[in-house]
Amino acid sequence: METRSQWGTRAGFILAAVGSAVGLGNIWRFPSVAYENGGGAFFIPYLFALLTAGIPLLIMEFTIGHKYRGSAPLSFSRMNKKAEWLGWWGALVAFVISTYYSVIIAWAMSYSIFSFNLSWGSDTEGFLFSNYLNLTDPGQTGNFVPGVLVPLIIVWVLVLGILFKGVKKGIEIANRIFIPLLIVLFLIIVVRALTLPGAIDGLNAFFQPDFNSIMSSDVWVAAYGQIFFSLSIAFAIMIAYSSYLPKKSDITNNAFIVGFGNSSFELLAGIGVFAILGFMAGQAGVGIDEVVAGGVGLAFVVFPQIINELPALNGLFGFLFFASLVLAGLSSLISICEAYISALVDKFKISRSKAVLLGGGLSALVSLLYATQGGLNFLDAVDYFINQFGVAFVGLIEVVMVAWILRKMKTLQEHANGISDIRLGAWWNISLGVITPIVLGYMMFDLFKLNLL
Ligand code: PHE
Ligand code: NA
Repeated sequence: METRSQWGTRAGFILAAVGSAVGLGNIWRFPSVAYENGGGAFFIPYLFALLTAGIPLLIMEFTIGHKYRGSAPLSFSRMNKKAEWLGWWGALVAFVISTYYSVIIAWAMSYSIFSFNLSWGSDTEGFLFSNYLNLTDPGQTGNFVPGVLVPLIIVWVLVLGILFKGVKKGIEIANRIFIPLLIVLFLIIVVRALTLPGAIDGLNAFFQPDFNSIMSSDVWVAAYGQIFFSLSIAFAIMIAYSSYLPKKSDITNNAFIVGFGNSSFELLAGIGVFAILGFMAGQAGVGIDEVVAGGVGLAFVVFPQIINELPALNGLFGFLFFASLVLAGLSSLISICEAYISALVDKFKISRSKAVLLGGGLSALVSLLYATQGGLNFLDAVDYFINQFGVAFVGLIEVVMVAWILRKMKTLQEHANGISDIRLGAWWNISLGVITPIVLGYMMFDLFKLNLL
């Protein structure tokens, strides 16, 4: 009777889950968030959030997917009919993210090609804003230059093609190639960054602890927000991925590997990015504060500037950096789309191909909106909204629902303990039943207060 697709190997599942987790959030979000929220001291709230929310929730989502064997909506409805909407909510947030995440990957793809000629020139900001956001002609030269449209189409053909092929032959194989390659490329970048003059000043600035900062609730909010987004929790993704696990799978162990794997990559990215920023500040004769950036600004404005300044092999370095963004992004985008594609298959009993065409196709169409001029503001607004409300809110409802309303902790704990080496007990129950709801509840309260007053 069991017809659900399955991962071919345990490593395949772990690589796919790590591929989902390791994304733009690690490379361009973590370094600046950590720096701005206490530097070295940020690791205290960050580790706390990882151990009391990140990994416990990952275990919970893996267990739900494995036990109920369905996409998030199906799994939640099997847990309790009234909980199905929770899965759809996560799937909807995943859909929204996929519409703009794809555009960023498309930018990174063309920037990896631009690297060779340093096409962005000296005014990298002007290049991004006034020229590049054109659909087809970033140089506005009158000659056809593929702008973001062509790479965007390539991104979607690639991702939907992989999803068409299914779990084992598509998602697993893609991650088996992308993730090892990403690690190699990124290590080269970090080693190069560390050998640049000024690198050490960047690292000092990054790790300089500001212990007063951890008294501020904002810093804790930032730590939880980073952990949730970074681990792809509460987006219906990890439930879908674990629904393809074979019966005998060490869920708890897998969650620890994915959680620590993602954080290791984050730390590595922080080191690489700040070594490079240290070089940049040294070249310009300014303090690190002047050059720190995150998000779009870091990747597409500051990095091109730095690449211009490198003493040698600029083009190659630029290519490696943007290619890493592409690989990290693609493996996350695949998982984001799988969250709602699996939900469509389970709910409407349609074939995978149809669901890919419907769900992925719709997202691809919407993504065109962001690729136009003005799209960047739109993208920023949606990203802000998703990060502020989407992530913590769904996470909060999810834990409250499972722990307090449906009271499923015991059932899930028994299921996980039955197949895992590490036994779940007080740590897991207190983290999810008490600590996480309190912290997330406070976060939401703070946000509404901030936005309403
Ligand atoms: N975890 C990914 C990152 O760090 C982003 C992501 C968010 C992926 C939500 C899937 C869902 O960039
Ligand atoms: Na991440």
